[in-house]
Amino acid sequence: MSSFNTDDFIKDSVRKLKAYQVNEVDAHKKALKLDANESNYILGKNIKKKYADYIKNTLINLYPDPNSKNLLKSIEKFYGISSKNFIFGNGSDELISIILLSLNKSVTVNIPAPSFSMYEIIAKYNDLNAKIIRLNDENFDLPANIESVVDKNTKNLYFFSYPNNPTGNHFDRKIIYGLLENKNNLVVVDEAYIFFSGEKSFLNELTKYENLIVLKTFSKIGLAGLRFGLLFSGDKLINEFKKIKLPYNINSLTLSSIEFFLKNFDEFEKNIKKTVKQRKVLYEKLSVLPFIKVYRSDANFLLIKLNDEKNKIKFDNFLNGNNIIIRNFTGGMEIYYRITVGTAKENKKLVDYFIEFSKNL
Ligand SMILES: Cc1ncc(COP(=O)(O)O)c(C=O)c1O
Repeated sequence: MSSFNTDDFIKDSVRKLKAYQVNEVDAHKKALKLDANESNYILGKNIKKKYADYIKNTLINLYPDPNSKNLLKSIEKFYGISSKNFIFGNGSDELISIILLSLNKSVTVNIPAPSFSMYEIIAKYNDLNAKIIRLNDENFDLPANIESVVDKNTKNLYFFSYPNNPTGNHFDRKIIYGLLENKNNLVVVDEAYIFFSGEKSFLNELTKYENLIVLKTFSKIGLAGLRFGLLFSGDKLINEFKKIKLPYNINSLTLSSIEFFLKNFDEFEKNIKKTVKQRKVLYEKLSVLPFIKVYRSDANFLLIKLNDEKNKIKFDNFLNGNNIIIRNFTGGMEIYYRITVGTAKENKKLVDYFIEFSKNL
């Protein structure tokens, strides 16, 4: 009998992929963990106690109730959008997956580079045609003539992280509006980092554009562990997505927690303000160091670039040796690093380390 062969069962597009790597963190080693754009602020004592009281009666013997009136009402109020027009995701990752799972194979998925890696990974294992749009070198914006660089013979979907991960900037809004005006396009605006930017949300445009999808997540403001994201769109599209969303994709504890935190959102407002202030401090302190270029950012991270690629090995060893975890990239981005803005104490520690590195060059 022949041996079991995965090739006979698993499709090519999956076998060709490399599994997504999550950095391992040895909690005992007290790493300076600034790699995943999480919030490093932990809940205060009082709110933690109130939270524990709130969720302790969650009925975990029953399936979760995603139609809880209480929760839907608070989300409607928070975003000003009717519950008819959103669905929940187990993080916005799952919502990206739902969008791509629903597409005709003939749609081209246009993805700026550099941007959030999951757009391309998920497009690929759904056997979709992914087209990379290179951002301008000098300001990381979209090419102004974007429709002339995409495939005009297909329908086009675009993913825009707004602000963009990992570059931290906003794309020109006029370019996004231009694409929305063309009904051969479907535009996803992923607002994972908009809490930190002061920019207006594209949610306000939903009534105007049927071909717009807006993604939100609570991961970046202090709730990454709960895994909760939202997808908003007009009636036509949302009704399609509702068909393929798994019925119980969000667990009961997360639903109760989100209900609680929406009622106590000032806790996060406070931390968002601190992060924005710290971003400025970190930018100022890092941008005087001669071995890196620091890019301005509207998100909760800063992108840096080594001025001399000869320093890369030394820099990587220094980071490793001191247990500093920041995000490095591949695919032509090897001398770029993304640093999550941490607490004042963490940022100071990072800056001190970088000064030390700089002195020893
Ligand atoms: C632009 C962007 N979108 C979506 C996500 C996914 O967030 P989550 O699945 O935690 O909601 C991330 C996470 O890094 C991101 O950077």
